[in-house]
Amino acid sequence: MTVPNHFKLLGRDGEARTGELTTPHGVVRTPAFMPVGTAGAMKSIHWRDIRDTGADIVLGNTYHLMLRPGAERIAALGGLQKFTTWNGPMLTDSGGFQVMSLAKLRKVTEHAVTFSSHIDGTKVELSPERAIEVQRLLGSDIAMQLDECVRLPAERADIERAMQLSIRWAGRSKRAFETAPAGYMLFGIVQGGDIPELRRESTRALIDIGFHGYAVGGLAVGEPQAVMLAMIEEVAPILPQERPRYLMGVGTPDDMLEAVARGIDMFDCVMPTRNGRHGHVFTRHGVINLRNARHADDPRPLDEESAWRSANGYSRAYLHHLVKSEEALGAMLLSEVNVAYYQSLMTGARAAIAAGTYGDYRASVREGWARGDI
Ligand code: GUN
Repeated sequence: MTVPNHFKLLGRDGEARTGELTTPHGVVRTPAFMPVGTAGAMKSIHWRDIRDTGADIVLGNTYHLMLRPGAERIAALGGLQKFTTWNGPMLTDSGGFQVMSLAKLRKVTEHAVTFSSHIDGTKVELSPERAIEVQRLLGSDIAMQLDECVRLPAERADIERAMQLSIRWAGRSKRAFETAPAGYMLFGIVQGGDIPELRRESTRALIDIGFHGYAVGGLAVGEPQAVMLAMIEEVAPILPQERPRYLMGVGTPDDMLEAVARGIDMFDCVMPTRNGRHGHVFTRHGVINLRNARHADDPRPLDEESAWRSANGYSRAYLHHLVKSEEALGAMLLSEVNVAYYQSLMTGARAAIAAGTYGDYRASVREGWARGDI
């Protein structure tokens, strides 16, 4: 049976695409950046402000939520959208990647990954079927298959084994998702490390299984940007044009502009919130480190032309002070400035692709970064 398609391609400019993905909780305009609300909260940002930054969709994590407060509990409380009050589109990652980076005593078998919880050491088993069950309990609009991601550099044999296991888990994930109500989506995840033929093999196998959309995983895990972009160039031309493509865990503003130019539609990354908490701000003029003493007496806002209230409404001196004195407000304001900047990049990209001027847009954004903080 063919998998229904909820993505509408509205425009193309070279390989870059703009479109709309319709989910049970609303429409996502692409290219889209999904801020990461790992454990049911965006670190340091109010849900209301997330919406105001221009985000259509946010990301949640199976791994964190199944451990605490528990997927069955969230389901009993009406699902993650209701629990958090976000009430908009949500994508959930499947947990495998977080197990690899956070959990202790992990063991991967054909059946499942087992691990000890990083919270209390409890032994937990996460199979492809359980990962889907948890994501269905959360009420996620877009669920991800369980996969195994290998950090780079790695041996070819390890990359290939994880890639093949991920394909078998993709088939099991799809079968487990068959009872999901209409409108909900499941994405497959391309693996294959930095080896072009493994990337192509993984992509073809996932297309044969058939998903609502396709993610490219296993990138931004230690390889140079050029390798990441080369892998996208292997995968994107094979993927069905009419389906959404999501590059997982990426990235810097420049990574996103480059990936959009190669046909990627969706992104997520902790960078805007994590860097914001540490005083690193993304702006039209590049990255500003507000910890630096040169900001202590500067009455100017971060960016007087920004439409975002905390980028244009507070002095650099005040923001510097908040960061230096480790005030929670500093983390809040700078996290939202960063998420708003990421959203403005996506808004600009969508408009430029629709107008057929994406190349100029990318060049002018780059020029702003190169001019530096003035
Ligand atoms: N987040 C970033 N990269 C990955 C990946 O390869 N797989 C999954 N499931 N999540 C990710």
